[in-house]
Amino acid sequence: MQKRKLGNSDLEVSALGLGCMGMSFSYGAPQDDNEMIALMHKAVDLGINFFDTAEVYGPWINEELVGKALSPIRDKVVIATKFGFNCVPNGAPGTQTLNSKPEHIKQVAEASLKRLNIDAIDLFYQHRVDPDVPIEEVAGAVKDLIAAGKVRHFGMSEAGAQTIRRAHAVQPVAALQSEYSLWWRKPELEIIPLLEELGIGLVAYSPLGKGFLTGAMSTDTTFASTDFRSKLPRFTPEAMAANQAFVDLLATIAKQKNATTAQIALAWLLAQKPWIVPIPGTTKLHRLEENVGAASVDLTADDLKQIETAAASIKPEGDRYPEAIEKMTGL
Ligand SMILES: NC(=O)c1ccc[n+]([C@@H]2O[C@H](COP(=O)([O-])OP(=O)(O)OC[C@H]3O[C@@H](n4cnc5c(N)ncnc54)[C@H](OP(=O)(O)O)[C@@H]3O)[C@@H](O)[C@H]2O)c1
Repeated sequence: MQKRKLGNSDLEVSALGLGCMGMSFSYGAPQDDNEMIALMHKAVDLGINFFDTAEVYGPWINEELVGKALSPIRDKVVIATKFGFNCVPNGAPGTQTLNSKPEHIKQVAEASLKRLNIDAIDLFYQHRVDPDVPIEEVAGAVKDLIAAGKVRHFGMSEAGAQTIRRAHAVQPVAALQSEYSLWWRKPELEIIPLLEELGIGLVAYSPLGKGFLTGAMSTDTTFASTDFRSKLPRFTPEAMAANQAFVDLLATIAKQKNATTAQIALAWLLAQKPWIVPIPGTTKLHRLEENVGAASVDLTADDLKQIETAAASIKPEGDRYPEAIEKMTGL
């Protein structure tokens, strides 16, 4: 698989990464460890070298799983994790409180290194901006960790433009990880131009719209109460019925390109900027192979224009997050 550089940093990763969250968290019960380890190894065989986890996924068990899978092949992979919460055992998504105090960041880094069983974190993101801690102090703490050799690159997630600018002035930010896909395009307004100006890469999370944009769901799809999507306004039957227009559009292009709907959703992101790296998540081998295939789908200028024109007349239905969680983002 081709590699991409995250902005002006020297961090080069596969054009598609693998989001590991759903293996342990957010989308129902944790998956079998051995199967997930085999899946991560298969991803490496297929050319993926960029893996995404976070302290809060589980909490803790997802980092442990990623460490178990990847520490034996450390030299072949780039491991990204995240800090920024007071984690409590079994805390559901959206229930953990923010904490980016410098001393906490440093403690989390040490604990993440242990769980991941590695000597340095390749990319350490602030998961959400903490309004109680000036961002300069956060960037300063990560700068100290980089100087100590415990972290290689600084990242942020869902931060607003001014916060990114201020942090970048203290410690260059290699990548912003934010949601981006055909049905969530808010980063195009202010964030993507800023990243281009500052030379910061964009790691696109939920690039398949949490599974919806693949066409694998319908209004009959129900979610277990442990599945975070059961709490998201964008996944009510009414919203899914309205948002089916996005899936239909992607499916039309997929047919023309002899590709799948999921592949077009990812190829569209890859075509936006050469420094955008989507990190689709899956727990299934056949879907991993399918998603990897997206890196070989070339969308022409005409394809992109067709998508743009059709997408302009579709209005996404339903908020992506409940209000309290959306408030934690800087958009
Ligand atoms: N920074 C943040 O705040 C933040 C927030 C959310 C996520 N993330 C990161 O981003 C990663 C990806 O995001 P995400 O998991 O939310 O959403 P996503 O990648 O858009 O979608 C994942 C969902 O799609 C399904 N799926 C994957 N490939 C498929 C295919 N080819 N056909 C049909 N269904 C498919 C998966 O189910 P199966 O497992 O059954 O295949 C899973 O339910 C996460 O793993 C996490 O690392 C970060």
